[in-house]
Amino acid sequence: MCAAIRKAVIPAAGLGTRFLPVTRSVPKELLPILDRPMLQYVVEEAAEAGITDVIVVTSPGKEGIAEYFRPRPDLETRLSDDAQLLEKVRSGANLADVSFVIQEEPLGLGHAVLTAREAVGAEPFAVILPDDIVDHSPGVLSQMMAAVAGEDGAAAVAVERVPWELVQNYGVVDSEPAGEGRHRVRGMVEKPPPGTAPSNLSIVGRYLLPPQVFDCLERTPPGARGEIQLTDGLALLMEDVAVYACEFEGIRYDGGNPLGLLRASIEHALKRDDTRDAAADLVRRLAAEL
Ligand code: UTP
Repeated sequence: MCAAIRKAVIPAAGLGTRFLPVTRSVPKELLPILDRPMLQYVVEEAAEAGITDVIVVTSPGKEGIAEYFRPRPDLETRLSDDAQLLEKVRSGANLADVSFVIQEEPLGLGHAVLTAREAVGAEPFAVILPDDIVDHSPGVLSQMMAAVAGEDGAAAVAVERVPWELVQNYGVVDSEPAGEGRHRVRGMVEKPPPGTAPSNLSIVGRYLLPPQVFDCLERTPPGARGEIQLTDGLALLMEDVAVYACEFEGIRYDGGNPLGLLRASIEHALKRDDTRDAAADLVRRLAAEL
């Protein structure tokens, strides 16, 4: 992946069924870890990796997502004498140039990425799933870019090791080692039946992709539920370009389900200067009562 990556696609057009009923009106991607939406965390990660253009894929009914990134002059006027609050109000809008494309129907992650084809154009780009949160500096995208620097035209996917007994719940790669924390991918298997997994390297929602992936996604047949899967598109891409799996530093939180988001919130509260002590007291008290 030689050329610098300037653009990132953030698919945010899913139904969020695991968070019903709240997702009837609040997009999952805007649910907060403490006080910041998950979407904000991943836009920050993209900006930190040098990405200047963020393309968010949304859907009809999730207008709140675009709303979040709109300037709020009314609020800024009201809070004009409080620098800290002003900074918070502006934090969403200032990180990158954020634009939106609409996926009319939730036809899968691969289809969501394909929806962004025109906005991305003919250049390599990143894909970031906003419900996979990794709190680490440097961020996962930066780490992946470093891991494949100089690999002309290659693609990359982030992976983390999961316990073998849980591997059937994840998408995993079939790969061989290709350097420190890096693997050359031969294939990908979604939720392998017990005892059949080719590795315990599970796929995390960060990808670096060359523009050829769009042609692959066009050729990808829909799967069981009529959805076009990104991993199926990557299987086709693998015929033409090298795909690497990159392990990364940092803990991944699964913000795609309520308990995962709760865990992320508690652990973030325990790390943040302004909440650490009160959060630790709370956790100790709750633990003592169990
Ligand atoms: P998920 O697989 O978590 O699906 O999508 P989901 O629909 O959001 O949630 P559940 O499973 O019904 O609870 C991972 C990411 O891909 C986006 C989602 O918005 C989420 O950010 N996505 C998924 C799309 O943009 N379009 C789709 O068709 C599917």
